[in-house]
Amino acid sequence: MAATDKLFAGSIPEIYDRYLVPLIFEPYALDLAARLAKADPRDVLETAAGTGVLTRAIAPRLDATARMVATDLNQPMLDHAMTRLRDGRIAWRQADALVLPFTDRSFDAVACQFGAMFFPDKVQGYRQAHRVLRPGGCFFFNVWDKISENEFADTVTDALAEVFPQDPPRFMARAPHGYHDVGLIREQLAAAGFADVSVDAVEHRSTAASPRDPAIAYCQGTPLRNEIEARDASRLDEATEHAAQALALRFGSGAIVGRIRAFVITARR
Ligand SMILES: C[S@@+](CC[C@H](N)C(=O)[O-])C[C@H]1O[C@@H](n2cnc3c(N)ncnc32)[C@H](O)[C@@H]1O
Repeated sequence: MAATDKLFAGSIPEIYDRYLVPLIFEPYALDLAARLAKADPRDVLETAAGTGVLTRAIAPRLDATARMVATDLNQPMLDHAMTRLRDGRIAWRQADALVLPFTDRSFDAVACQFGAMFFPDKVQGYRQAHRVLRPGGCFFFNVWDKISENEFADTVTDALAEVFPQDPPRFMARAPHGYHDVGLIREQLAAAGFADVSVDAVEHRSTAASPRDPAIAYCQGTPLRNEIEARDASRLDEATEHAAQALALRFGSGAIVGRIRAFVITARR
């Protein structure tokens, strides 16, 4: 993984939250929040919370006496999240999911939406979730399936290879869509101490008002932007426009719909 793959900062949080969250993250946040709510947890930890779409989905389902700590590696993501949700039961705290600043057995549930792919050492990330869970507690998380199953991301990645043919920006394929081997995920969870694991493949339709919205979402609201700017910062708008044209060619020029697919995992301590 490239060093800039985990850098969600600068203009990324605002564009991520405005364009990408409604496009692909909201339906999975509702799904994960519903699974977590069934466990009726008192103490909840969220890792890689980003701009807080899952936090916002969990909050209305939390008991009045429950408490939640929402964490992320990148403070700028949390700063944005905090502008959207104020809830006395929820604390925001910068933390690396691989080095959690919490005592052993202090949570009933750990939730992580589309963060595990960014962990440089997956087993270490899972070990930390296992360590802070109470016995019987659950780790709820999800990861994207391969990029070919996620049509807008795939189209944008192919389009950018045409803009930078010598050195195509491969962030989307490498990072968010680079960790979808369910057998490996099960092995790594087992190595971290989780014996009871279930995995569901969950598919949704992603809808955008125009091809330009997903082009902005991916090219400017994710670390793909860092990759484009590293090649030639002056070509960010051109790259975005080329991605929009490729999306229009494949999905049409008005409102567009694309398939998204992910794995949702529950691991019990
Ligand atoms: C694709 S975003 C998902 C954010 C949010 N959960 C959502 O559903 O919108 C990935 C997030 O992982 C965070 N991240 C990357 N590496 C991390 C780490 N080692 N520990 C905690 N968070 C990390 C990034 O800052 C980013 O907010």
